[in-house]
Amino acid sequence: MSEQSPLILSGKTVAKATLMRTRQEVQAMLAQGHEIGLCVVQIGRCAASSIYVNRKEARAKKLGFISTTLRLPEDVSEEALLEQIDALNANDGVHGILIQLPLPKHMNEQRVLDRLDPKKDVDGFHPINSGLLSQGRGTLIPCTPKGVMTMLEHYEIALSGKHAVVVGRSNIVGRPMAQLLEKSNCTVTICHSRTTNLEAHLAMADIVVAAVGIPKMIQGEWLKEGAVVIDVGINRLEDGTICGDVDFESASKVASAITPVPGGVGPMTIATLMENTLRAAQA
Ligand code: GUN
Repeated sequence: MSEQSPLILSGKTVAKATLMRTRQEVQAMLAQGHEIGLCVVQIGRCAASSIYVNRKEARAKKLGFISTTLRLPEDVSEEALLEQIDALNANDGVHGILIQLPLPKHMNEQRVLDRLDPKKDVDGFHPINSGLLSQGRGTLIPCTPKGVMTMLEHYEIALSGKHAVVVGRSNIVGRPMAQLLEKSNCTVTICHSRTTNLEAHLAMADIVVAAVGIPKMIQGEWLKEGAVVIDVGINRLEDGTICGDVDFESASKVASAITPVPGGVGPMTIATLMENTLRAAQA
């Protein structure tokens, strides 16, 4: 067991630095008479989605973007949504489009995301952008995993030659996360819900990224001494408190560095969305 307490990797601090860098570039663009437009599309009134969407809109406005939110009713047809996406694709004042997920059950998520102009896909979920990322030449990269890479860089965590274990294989986090770590010369293992003996994989991990959505699933006793632990999970417990996918208390006794929840990876997602919107407007 580690004698020292781990370095706490603060997404709040790194998000602030990321936003400051972005702000400088945004102001230079605005000073040249350019405008930067972001449209967030929310379907239905899911409370959690509303919180995220409002935060994204507020942050974009604060940076000087022209930020709009298109709110459509829960029962809007997929065809009507696709028509709205076509209109946003054709609108030269909109540089970034984000469709807040999850979509209502009657919609086919892939068909909806496929309709986005890849150049405006600030989430990096379009197959063109996923394909570019898988070849190591992505420009619009999913915000959460890209934000994790920014954090690792900020804290100067060495990646080359390290063994990274990513737990979770979603298109939003796990898969792009694994690709980014591999591009940074990690040896990467992807674990998921069908992985047998997760603990044996974690025991070999220099870097662990947890993105499974199960509260406190990963125990400190499973980790290698000195591991760097990145917790992407945001789970609400019955008592209303928020926790990650990692049991922070036990993991802190073993890790050399760890992200807290909240205040860890969370703030990086919106900061990176702002960065992606700027890149889309610059392209
Ligand atoms: N829902 C949860 N996370 C995300 C995200 O990163 N992007 C979008 N569009 N929806 C989400």
